[in-house]
Amino acid sequence: MDSKAIMALALKLAGQDEVPADSGIDLPASNVKRALFGIDADVGDLLLAKQLGYDILINHHPTGGGSQVNLPRVLRKHGILLERAGVPRAAAERAVDALLDEHESAAHARNYEKLPSEARLLGVPLMAIHNPCDEIGRRLMDETLRAGLPRDPRVRDAIRVLNKLPEFKKALTKIVVRMGSEQNPLGKWLVIHGAGTNGGHPVAKAAFDHGIDTVFYIHIDAGHLRRLREEYGREGPKNLVVTGHIASDSIGINVLVRELRKRGVAVDCFSGVLDV
Ligand SMILES: [Fe+2]
Ligand SMILES: [Fe+2]
Repeated sequence: MDSKAIMALALKLAGQDEVPADSGIDLPASNVKRALFGIDADVGDLLLAKQLGYDILINHHPTGGGSQVNLPRVLRKHGILLERAGVPRAAAERAVDALLDEHESAAHARNYEKLPSEARLLGVPLMAIHNPCDEIGRRLMDETLRAGLPRDPRVRDAIRVLNKLPEFKKALTKIVVRMGSEQNPLGKWLVIHGAGTNGGHPVAKAAFDHGIDTVFYIHIDAGHLRRLREEYGREGPKNLVVTGHIASDSIGINVLVRELRKRGVAVDCFSGVLDV
């Protein structure tokens, strides 16, 4: 397989017809027999891939070039997730605008050429597959919950169901209730993942204010969490369940890794990917 075919496979698994703005091929590979798949590539990882003779370094988080500069475009997907869950368009768009306010300046300031230029100097093919893996991961979490929840579930039932996924079983981090309570009714719930990064305060607020009782994030910043707790109460009726960053990222990555292996690519996971 070449790097284009690897990207095409990721898109197919995610049900997407174009490469999302936070993904891309920095340095193409023509014939990949051995691939190294990680989450947070740096130049050390590139050197490791070269020294160990891999044909490509596939990284989950955006590596540079367009995938870093254009990541904020993917944040728009939060609006789609919110609207699908019944949040009115105007409120969903307000939430996305607030997120963009925060993330656009950071993306604009990033040293986006660092890693791609290092990959070119070393001659180590490099690509980022971010949103397709997260899209796959969200669907899997969503389907797992749908299939496994009992009638009138409580928050703790949702955690028990998610913990059946091998990535959560293997992870050192546990799924935590950051706001609300395990004893609370789960109510109307929404998994927010696969939209660039977590939706922070604005997206959870839009959900909570429009009939959603439980939001699942894979991670959240402390400042955003503090604001949510101030508004909805640390142990109030609204629940924020945080499933764990690396465990949750591994869910979507592993689907792609398995499919690559089926196609004869020897994939080694490292840099955080929980190979299950
Ligand atoms: Fe991710
Ligand atoms: Fe991530």
